[in-house]
Amino acid sequence: MELYDLKTEYKCDPLGMDAPHPRFSYKLRGSAAEQSARRIIVQQSDGTVMWDSGWQQSAESIQIVYSGKKLQPHTRYFWRAGVRMEDGCEFLQEKAEAFFETGFAGSAWQGAWIGAYAGEKNMRPVDHFRKKFTLKSDVIKARLFLSALGLYEAELNGVKVGNELFAPGWTDYYSRVQYQVYDAAELLHSGENTLQIQLADGWYSGTIAVLVNTEDHGYGPHPLLRAELHVELADGRKEIICSDTSWECSGSGAIRYSDIYMGEYYDARLEEISDWHNGVFTEEHPEIAMDWQEGAPVRVTEILPPQKITRSRNGCFIVDFGQNITGSELLKLPPLPEGTQIRIRHGEMLQADGSLYVENLRSAKAETIYISKREQPHTYAPRFTFYGFRYLEITGLTEITPDMVSARVIHSDLERTGYFESSDELLNRLYQNAFWGQRGNFLDIPTDCPQRDERQGWSADTQIFAPTASFNYFTPGFYTKWLRDLNACRYFGAFPEIAPYVCKLKDPAHWASGWSDAGLLVPWELFKKYGDTRLLEEYAANMAEYLDVQEKASNGTWLVKNARYGDWLGHDVPLDEEFLTTAYFAGMTRLFVRICRILGQEEEAMRREEMFGQIKAAFLRKFYSPSGELLIKTQSAALLALHFELLPENDNGQTLHILTEDIRKRDTHLSTGFLGTPLLLGTLSRCGKNDLALELLMQKTYPSWLYSVIQGATTFWERWDSWTAEKGFGDVTMNSFNHYAYGAVAEFFYRNICGIQLMEEQGLAGGKQITLSPVFTAKLQFAAGEYESMYGRIISRWEWKNSNELQWHIAIPCNSSARVELPAGWIAAEISENTILPSGEYHLIVTGKEHLK
Ligand code: BGC
Repeated sequence: MELYDLKTEYKCDPLGMDAPHPRFSYKLRGSAAEQSARRIIVQQSDGTVMWDSGWQQSAESIQIVYSGKKLQPHTRYFWRAGVRMEDGCEFLQEKAEAFFETGFAGSAWQGAWIGAYAGEKNMRPVDHFRKKFTLKSDVIKARLFLSALGLYEAELNGVKVGNELFAPGWTDYYSRVQYQVYDAAELLHSGENTLQIQLADGWYSGTIAVLVNTEDHGYGPHPLLRAELHVELADGRKEIICSDTSWECSGSGAIRYSDIYMGEYYDARLEEISDWHNGVFTEEHPEIAMDWQEGAPVRVTEILPPQKITRSRNGCFIVDFGQNITGSELLKLPPLPEGTQIRIRHGEMLQADGSLYVENLRSAKAETIYISKREQPHTYAPRFTFYGFRYLEITGLTEITPDMVSARVIHSDLERTGYFESSDELLNRLYQNAFWGQRGNFLDIPTDCPQRDERQGWSADTQIFAPTASFNYFTPGFYTKWLRDLNACRYFGAFPEIAPYVCKLKDPAHWASGWSDAGLLVPWELFKKYGDTRLLEEYAANMAEYLDVQEKASNGTWLVKNARYGDWLGHDVPLDEEFLTTAYFAGMTRLFVRICRILGQEEEAMRREEMFGQIKAAFLRKFYSPSGELLIKTQSAALLALHFELLPENDNGQTLHILTEDIRKRDTHLSTGFLGTPLLLGTLSRCGKNDLALELLMQKTYPSWLYSVIQGATTFWERWDSWTAEKGFGDVTMNSFNHYAYGAVAEFFYRNICGIQLMEEQGLAGGKQITLSPVFTAKLQFAAGEYESMYGRIISRWEWKNSNELQWHIAIPCNSSARVELPAGWIAAEISENTILPSGEYHLIVTGKEHLK
């Protein structure tokens, strides 16, 4: 047996981990199916034991909560896991070791918030800070702690510290900011050292904040920096170098501005700074908590070469990377005459005449200006801005060869956990588009889109895509960080529709159904996928308050109306606002009942259950006829009623019939928007309509998922008609080509086509027990899904062998088990009704009685 992938708070060997009671997890592989007991020991480097769990009879290997002595700041702790396996009558024991290191853990910072430019203007030169210091002997250990209200990048003795971009990330800067920790020992030496840091406006005081919050100039008028360098020297001394007014500054470096919406202006002639001066000022911001980084760092994860370079009529070059991405260009320039100006614009699409389509960027200029220095080769990439693009339009060069330009793919660098492939190339591309959609919209926060003057953490987009996102990638840290901000931006008790929210809301009714509900749905997703109950616990009171806001708004009627965005961008007649809000209100109340039960709050569960009954009754009175017929006959209305289980007893399939009839009436097309679409295929499948679900999925004509794929889309579009053959580009006021909301369909590939379903019950969530319930369809020759769960790799791959026989390959990780549900009419020798398979690999032959290929 082997113990592997030991994680503390979802991270391998984290630095700067400040959770007072961190949670541990590990995975097991080998011949045995389940552990019978486990033991965790946490020690300091001198051997002092902080916690010894003792041998616990338990088959649990995730979410093991530290409950030892109080953890100290700036300390490394090692932990070991021991397991006993019950393998026949033999006991095995395996061990593995990991560590975590605390950061400030709530202790005070000595470094001050420092700034260099106090004017109130964004689109200004990036601030440079410099601190020279002497170390009297060799460095044994060094940790550099950095944070900013703005964005920073640091260099120690001319070498970039870490490979993170867009640090410290976007949080609710009114109340909290993250700091990062870097191991800096290798970059320091005995003698004189220089720490140099660039500071840009970023989300804090750049146009992204100013546009949204014109009154108050974003979060603050200018960016600020905070730093501490802790060094342990060979002579036994410890030194701390802190940001303060002794630091030098300059505003005359090469980056004349760098702005998330507008782009970057870089004058390479100014790379050598000659006017370092004093002038650093300090500010006090005790109201802003210094939080550790729970999410993942943003990094360059891939570099794409150009697929095609063409020259357009007006003399500029169009570079096509063949894939719509988020990131920026990387230029490798040959020597150019000094002062040559290169202008680069970014676009997701081309116009019919081959020129760049940039109308959809709205006020975002999204362009790079680069001025060359003396005749020297030069490598350059923008630093504090990102673009959503597939094409570059480059002006100012007389020649471009493929080695001169490439595209840097930039996003939160999460571990990939999901894979899907089938015999259908169009479906595979659709899946890839969802995957790229996530890469394009996971840039420290979950965004709606990466290109226009928006790029905000819209909460509907987030909740809609979270189930797919958490199949594709390991998301718990990423979403936990975002949920902190969603919860920090609650004004008047409701969750906001965007997080982080730049403006402090003044309107109590400023929440929206389907959007604000992310406050319950995203923690629930993390419970389901990762068995995380801590977030449910931490935010249960806020969830309750959100439900209370709705109850109050209903004025005793239990009917609520607050769905500003309706079934956003759907094709139906607008969905009745009261219907939508009340359906969500009911759905969330019921979900909250489950959450209360998980938390052992039975009294509250019963109270909320009773509320659910009232809401459902009011909903039925208003939206169903006495004979049990849904009065609003649209696809999304039927879907919400079915999904939130709001049907009356005498429904008798009528609501499902409304849904299927409407789809058929439209010649097997959907008409749903942001809220209805993610429910569509899963609900049809749950109601036994797999064939219809697959027909819809594989529909090629407009409106459908594959329509965009056939048009050559490499990411999901915001609208079903973002571009159509008949009308060309859709409504330019809002026309993103990298909007992942409709990409939520990819959940169906994992969950239904391959049948990998995670249980939602306490003790079974997080992959402890899974259900394998695939859809075998003659529309595909094979389908293969893999998901790296908290326990290890789950595989479900089926393939037709002959006209009524399939081979189904299953893998279930150690410490987990699977309930196997064959579709009706199928049999396998090993499987009877409700078979629970223990961990292991299985190659089943499955025979269809009636379902012949
Ligand atoms: C965003 C959406 C968002 C919506 C709210 C748009 O501008 O791009 O994805 O959910 O606003 O209606």
